[in-house]
Amino acid sequence: MKVLVLGGGGREHAIAWRLHQSPSVSQVFVSPGNPGSATIAKCVTPASTTPEGYMAVARAVEADLTVVGPEAPLVDGTVDLFQKEGLLIFGPTARAAQLEGSKIFSKRFMERAGIPTARFVSTSDPVEARAALNQFTYPVVIKADGLAAGKGVVICPDQANALETLEGMFSGALVGAAGASLVIEEFLTGEEVSFIGLSDGQRVLPLEPSQDHKTIYEGDQGPNTGGMGAYSDSRIITASQREFAMCEVMDRTIQQMAAEGNPFQGFLYAGLMMTPDRGPMVLEFNVRLGDPETQALLHRMDCDFGAVLFEAARGQVKPELLAFKQDPSVCVVLAAHGYPGKVRTGDAITGIAAAEATGATVFHAGTKFVDGKLVASGGRVLGVTHSGPTLQQAIANAYQACDQIHFDGMQIRRDIGKKGLKRWA
Ligand code: AMP
Ligand code: GLY
Repeated sequence: MKVLVLGGGGREHAIAWRLHQSPSVSQVFVSPGNPGSATIAKCVTPASTTPEGYMAVARAVEADLTVVGPEAPLVDGTVDLFQKEGLLIFGPTARAAQLEGSKIFSKRFMERAGIPTARFVSTSDPVEARAALNQFTYPVVIKADGLAAGKGVVICPDQANALETLEGMFSGALVGAAGASLVIEEFLTGEEVSFIGLSDGQRVLPLEPSQDHKTIYEGDQGPNTGGMGAYSDSRIITASQREFAMCEVMDRTIQQMAAEGNPFQGFLYAGLMMTPDRGPMVLEFNVRLGDPETQALLHRMDCDFGAVLFEAARGQVKPELLAFKQDPSVCVVLAAHGYPGKVRTGDAITGIAAAEATGATVFHAGTKFVDGKLVASGGRVLGVTHSGPTLQQAIANAYQACDQIHFDGMQIRRDIGKKGLKRWA
């Protein structure tokens, strides 16, 4: 079968790479893709990044199945259009994608379903918002309701900062229209875990747990990024935490969405806070795979990914089709000069072949060819991914590969996966 992947980042390169290795898949297309995905798939630039634009691509390449990478096409209704036109696609409808597209929808949904999450107030009224601060202690968390490219969550250390943040949200200065409604919620502490399930709308299968590293500097310091690296290791959660996350979060979400006439098909990503006293709690839902979690996760995948997605898209997940290797995996992101602020582009990249000669897989995120030379073209440039029999070995393998790669201004965190080593001690 021919499979089309929508998106152009490192996550989509990894999805295309795994599909390319699937016995059930004869050809992979990526729209728009990037120079990395172009080595294993055919890249097609859509005339527009709208549902109609993507449908035209799917028709032109005669895709038997389309898989959506990022959230924007989902929230825009790409799945709705494909389904209306009778094209097979894996991902949630626009209405189901509100689990990520609207923090207020998501929090109210969790409240109705009895899913553990931080206590909250939602409002679009500045006076009500200011008064609601009295119900919380500091730090307090303020979240824009709408999609805000990772900039919609502010942790406010004190009241002055919270009042300033509310002002910035309601005036549009912080995240534009996305902040016109917002959520105020209690601050939770603990370790964060990315727990992702794959659902056909009725049932959900767990993928392996992973952990992202959000800040630009080592030791979780500095401003947040899209993610500077991730690792996947079954030891990240215990068997009982896994069972809790499956029963109380994943199954409950899929069942409640179906019961509300809004079934969720696709990847359901729960950002969990493993609180010491209240167990795993949901910080947020995403309606897609994580980036860079996917690069690490798919590196460990040990099955025909195309077959898994095809069955799930047709409404019948098959647990026996899904398998992962035991070996932990690590994805280290190499970012461009200036990221996550103003990014410098155009720095020439060398050493990818040498890195891959060590056995690593180098996923492209922000690269392009200029005059025949590969250069950095975005904030996150590459995701260098490797695995090993132990987490320590997987980390060493990934960094050995990173050390082969160079571009001016390259930023790298040297501590990806480190917080997982305590589970191997
Ligand atoms: P979200 O987009 O809701 O996941 O928020 C982005 C990041 O903000 C999360 O990954 C957490 O690191 C942090 N965060 C969000 N909500 C909370 C909370 N209630 N308590 C502590 N940290 C939070
Ligand atoms: N790595 C976090 C995300 O994909 O949202």
